Amino acid sequence: MKVVATIKDVRAARAALPSPVGFVPTMGYLHEGHLALVRAARTQNQSVVVSIFVNPKQFGPNEDYASYPRDLDRDLRLLEQEAVDLVFAPSVEEMYPPGFSTFVDVGPLGEILEGARRPGHFRGVATVVTRLFCLIQPDRAYFGQKDAQQCVVIKKLVADLGMPIEIVTVPTVREPDGLAMSSRNVYLDPDQRIAARVLSASLRAAAEAYERGERNAEALRRLVSQIIAGEPRAQLDYVSVADAETLEELSTVDRPALISLAAWIGRARLIDNIIVGQ
Ligand code: PAJ
Repeated sequence: MKVVATIKDVRAARAALPSPVGFVPTMGYLHEGHLALVRAARTQNQSVVVSIFVNPKQFGPNEDYASYPRDLDRDLRLLEQEAVDLVFAPSVEEMYPPGFSTFVDVGPLGEILEGARRPGHFRGVATVVTRLFCLIQPDRAYFGQKDAQQCVVIKKLVADLGMPIEIVTVPTVREPDGLAMSSRNVYLDPDQRIAARVLSASLRAAAEAYERGERNAEALRRLVSQIIAGEPRAQLDYVSVADAETLEELSTVDRPALISLAAWIGRARLIDNIIVGQ
């Protein structure tokens, strides 16, 4: 496994890889969710490239950029075990040299849901992913369903700019109690970790209500908020029942729908989602 940190080295190493190339962008502090993406890439491609870069441009001024967990040595050991060919772990200065001023903005899709609570977040994501796609030039790129809106934003970006890259979405990997794996779960103390179950439990309850015939989107939103309200350690930020493709809020669930939420547990802001009607 080759590990590089500069633009020059990543271009040279990429050029030597046999195609097709599968690419997994990450911010590191890897867990089984990330590794599921790597394994999917490994089975579908001749070569696998992983990037590790905590992208300052996708964090708001009051967000957790400085304290975001990092452990490059451990990440590299895990990726070595997955037979990854190339790891790109650049510095901030390498990715954004002084004077960097070009941004990629996907428009309204990036301004709703997570984008409404985290202004500029998806502009930062779209910019870094475009930059990485230009450097790595993958045939396929892998994203987790855990970040459902990110998947929609990246597919839009690739379609609008005509990039010849297949975007593959990988199902959310969960802890045994249902909590979606996330690098941010390390922020939870033991009590908060137990309380965090309520996120996936509320989504499962909504999906079960849907299966029993509930098609009123507001009733599903209400059900999720009531279940979250029953856990004093959790504060709901939002719950959404939206068209799974356009992310437009629904009043009646008459097509595949994304039920998504964000909630605070202590200092951790966690997101999760489930799709119904697919
Ligand atoms: P990060 O949060 O490190 O996640 C990297 C990839 O892993 C994303 O595609 C994310 O959806 C996926 N992932 C995270 N947790 C997962 C889980 N429990 N199950 C399945 N997949 C999961 O997302 C980012 O980094 C950044 O925004 C990035 C795309 C790298 C751009 O900076």
